[in-house]
Order: sequence, then structure tokens, then C-alpha cells
Amino acid sequence: MTQILDGKALAEQIKDEIANEVRHITAEGHRPPHLAAILVGTDGASQTYVASKEKSSHEVGFTSSVYRYAESTTEEELLRAIDFLNTDEEIDGFIVQLPLPSHINERHIINAINPDKDVDGFTPINVGRMVLGEDAFVPATPMGIMTLLNRSGIDTEGKHCVVVGRSNIVGTPVANLLSRNNEHANCTVTLCHSKTRNLADITRTADILVVAMGKPEFVTADMVKEDAVLVDVGIHRVSDASRKNGYYLCGDVKHSEVDAKCSYVTPVPGGVGPLTIVSLLQNTLKAFKQTHNL
Ligand code: GUN
Repeated sequence: MTQILDGKALAEQIKDEIANEVRHITAEGHRPPHLAAILVGTDGASQTYVASKEKSSHEVGFTSSVYRYAESTTEEELLRAIDFLNTDEEIDGFIVQLPLPSHINERHIINAINPDKDVDGFTPINVGRMVLGEDAFVPATPMGIMTLLNRSGIDTEGKHCVVVGRSNIVGTPVANLLSRNNEHANCTVTLCHSKTRNLADITRTADILVVAMGKPEFVTADMVKEDAVLVDVGIHRVSDASRKNGYYLCGDVKHSEVDAKCSYVTPVPGGVGPLTIVSLLQNTLKAFKQTHNL
């Protein structure tokens, strides 16, 4: 029987835990943790993500603010905003929602973020710390995937984990986390990407298959081993005139044919997504505690 990994329910449970901690913090006379976001332009998906981060922040008792900039904003203007957030003592952590408009160099922007407030874990300092196994802000999606596997009691030790997709935000960091020498990881990891030959031959050997390639319903039943654990990181809006809102959501996996083969599977929506947002909240709480010596 396939078990569905209910990310939404687990996220609610962890949010309750965070909210409890926030109540203790404020009862001791501290201000609540404060997460800020910089949002550039009007990209629909980015607006949705940031709104969802704001909503979740409020649910756990955090303060939340969004700094909105026009699509035409300059790199200099954004660097000034980052300078402000880097030093503002009322803000514990902030993110710059990606992607940025093409005239802005994303690396210049990310490199300017104060690593102690880099709750997305995107700065070179946090990436380096994570790879070295030091205390770090770990990017939210990989962290959410690890939380979902671990809190669902999935044994990872010695398992062959195949990660499809090598992005800086998901594939590369999750491959690193899964291969680490600790009780929540210890996988043998294969990282596949757009130039991988015979992809299906490799995915079929996966005990744990993490798909983060950004291609709607790409992974089909013939690519998956019987009883595999399947983590689908993709989320896509596909136009469909027959639906009330004109679209449906799907992942990188063709769930209608793949799920029955798996021991565990993350649904889309309601799998990895809710854990991603919760991880950002966990990182913000961590940033708050570090600066307040709690
Ligand atoms: N765009 C897509 N995913 C992310 C994320 O995790 N953080 C930020 N800042 N932008 C994103």
C-alpha cells in the first residue's frame, strides 16, 4: 500500500511547535521574530510564494514585512535595500525572492546579504558551512525534504538516493544533505541532470527518488523501482479550460501512474511545498535566537 507523505499536516504540526515557542519568547518580554522579503516585479508565482510566506509568518506569531520594487528597479537600489535590512535590528532574517529581472545580477544581490540574516541559506558563507557540516542556514526546500523524510520515520541509512536536478536551490544542496554522515542521512547519492545519459536506468535503481527538474509530469512509472520512496519537488500550473480556475497543479512526476508503485510518495500540492515554508520559519526563529542569545 502506498503511503502519502502529508506535508500539509506535518507543516501544521511544526507551525504549532513554532507558535508555542514564539509565545514563550514574547511572554519573556522579547519582541516576536521578524521575517522580511524583498519582492521585485509582478511575477505571479513569486507573488503567491511571498504572500504564502507572509500568511505563515502571521500564523506562528512572527512579524512579517514585504519590500516591493518595480520590475525596472536597479541593482544599486536593491543593494541599498539589502544594506538597510542587513543592519536593521528589528529584522532577524530576510529573503530576496527569486528569480530577479534579467538586468540584475542575482549573485551580486545574494552575495550582499548578511549571512547571519540569510534565512534562505543562499550566501556563499552558508553554502560553505552547510557543505562542511557546520552550523548553517540550510535552504528551505532541501531542509523541508529532510524534515519530511525524517519525521515520517523513513529509514535513509545506506539507501541509494537518486536526485534529479542540480539547481543551487534544491538538487545540489539536497544531494549534499542526504549524503551526510548522520543518523538522518547516510545515503549513497547519485545526482542526475540534463546531460545525464540513460536517466531512466539510473532512476530505476533509486530506493529514494527526489525529482527537482522542473518538467511537468516527466517521471513515468517505467522510471521508478517498485516500493521506492518518491519525493516530487516540482510544482507547475497547467492550463485546463475544463477547470473552474482555468488550470490544475502538477509536479515533475506523473502521479496517476507512478504512485501505486511506491511505498511512500509526496503529493503535489501538499507535499514538499508546505515544508519549504515551515523551514523558512524555522530558520527565522534560529536567526532570532542567535541574535538574542536564547
Ligand atoms: N524562488 C523559488 N524558490 C525560492 C526560494 O526558496 N527562495 C527564494 N528567495 N526564491 C525562490
